[in-house]
Amino acid sequence: MGKILVVGSLNMDVAVRMERMPLRGETVRGEDYMENPGGKGANQAYAAGRLGGDVTMLGCVGGDTYGRRIIEQLRRGGVAVDAVEQMAGTATGTAFIFTDAEANNSIVIIGGANEACTVDYVRRHADLLAECDTVVLQLEIPLETVCYVIERAAVLGKRIILDPAPARTDIPADILRKVHILTPNETELAALTGRRVESMEEIRAAAAELLCNGAEYVIVTLGERGTLLLSREGDRHIPTRAVDAVDTTAAGDCFNGALAVELTRGVSIEEAIAFANAAASLSTTRRGAQSSIPARNEVAPL
Ligand code: RIB
Repeated sequence: MGKILVVGSLNMDVAVRMERMPLRGETVRGEDYMENPGGKGANQAYAAGRLGGDVTMLGCVGGDTYGRRIIEQLRRGGVAVDAVEQMAGTATGTAFIFTDAEANNSIVIIGGANEACTVDYVRRHADLLAECDTVVLQLEIPLETVCYVIERAAVLGKRIILDPAPARTDIPADILRKVHILTPNETELAALTGRRVESMEEIRAAAAELLCNGAEYVIVTLGERGTLLLSREGDRHIPTRAVDAVDTTAAGDCFNGALAVELTRGVSIEEAIAFANAAASLSTTRRGAQSSIPARNEVAPL
């Protein structure tokens, strides 16, 4: 089994459940709220750990209780956290998550200590990058750091998975070219390519553009419609199980963590996606981010 390194964000999520989202200027009554460790990077590392991967996390939290709770949760999930730094005098990243009765969510993040996940910090842990087989990244830490890790990982011949979330339009083309596996959802695909992605044909055309630009695989995550995989061999729609979703927070993170584990186990990309789809759909039947991520023995691919 190869080693996975996740470089990314760690947040404390404050998740509020409500019947429907407030409109602009409106106040609505929430049902309850919970605090739960999250952050796209930490969620992906936690998912990889829960699903049996050999995974290490690189990222920063604040010197506060939230930071300690997040590190402890990752440790319980089987993630190596020795290199996660607690930055004294800085607050841990926070995410405010609104979830409605139809399992939709809206998220506001305050970066906090995630901004301290700099190129210098990653350089201090260069040994971890050198030792791993697969590097997993997202976009909640400084873009400069993401670009640096991708460049170094490419030189070192690592498998690079980039979940381009949250969506942004300014990732340099020469960086995207070095990524082996890009896993955008529809919003992120539109941001990366500047294209409309309303129909399946438009989604396919936009993903094909990323493939032409250099990615080895583009995997578009389509929620309950499953996943579209594009590679030089052609494209394939991989369906997922229908479930009664209650909260889709971190479903994409669960997908990426699971994908990384399966690929480092050496299975085919199609099998890895089927497993990741199954893990992600199961996560939507539970509330929260890391609290929703299943253990390996719960996941049964279609
Ligand atoms: O992808 C879900 C995550 O996005 C949440 O855990 C929240 O912290 C935000 O980063």
